[in-house]
Amino acid sequence: MSSITACLFDLDGVLVDTAKYHYIAWKRLANELGFDFTEQDNERLKGVSRMASLNILLEIGGVTLDEITKMALAEKKNAWYVEYISNMDKSEILPGALEFIQALKERGIKVALGSASKNAMLILNNTGLTPYFDAIIDGTKTSQAKPDPEVFTLGARELGTEPEACVVFEDAEAGIEAATRAGMRSVGIGSSETLGQANLVLPSLEGFTVDRLLEL
Ligand code: BG6
Ligand code: MG
Repeated sequence: MSSITACLFDLDGVLVDTAKYHYIAWKRLANELGFDFTEQDNERLKGVSRMASLNILLEIGGVTLDEITKMALAEKKNAWYVEYISNMDKSEILPGALEFIQALKERGIKVALGSASKNAMLILNNTGLTPYFDAIIDGTKTSQAKPDPEVFTLGARELGTEPEACVVFEDAEAGIEAATRAGMRSVGIGSSETLGQANLVLPSLEGFTVDRLLEL
């Protein structure tokens, strides 16, 4: 195995606790459309792009709509979501995430973002995380959603790092698959029930060290 010279991080659910805001906004939309949307349903949306998420939501509600109406609904959900995240600050960085990124920088390991979100810059700026990244690939720069490896392949290319030297941190099953398809190692943040394909699964980044990373 090559030594590790770069780490690529998913954003929602790995670095910041934004999954709850996505959930509240989707639930509000479902309720407006006349059906309920549970936290369990929401698991299917993690790591999935905005339009793909809407399609899953409509399938759950048994609702069929034309593309123009769907575009309007996706925009409506996003306006609510942006309103919720506009008040975010660094207190919503997940436990251990900032400490681990700082430790990586001190050891000369490169750091990139690999997120499906088109709101990533707003979140990074509100939480003060932007300056830590050597490369930022978000939903405005990709055309293929995870589990397609595009987001991580572009990240490695922008860092000038070979995929074999990269480790991806992800909370979504689709993200772990994307990492594997990109030829990278992965660390799942969450439960091994859903992230079992990762090289290592952790409940959070709290207490995780660079020395432990280098053993992967
Ligand atoms: C992913 C989230 O990071 O970004 C998904 O896990 C979300 O839940 C996707 O749908 C797209 O986000 P946005 O902010 O562009 O709607
Ligand atoms: Mg995520």
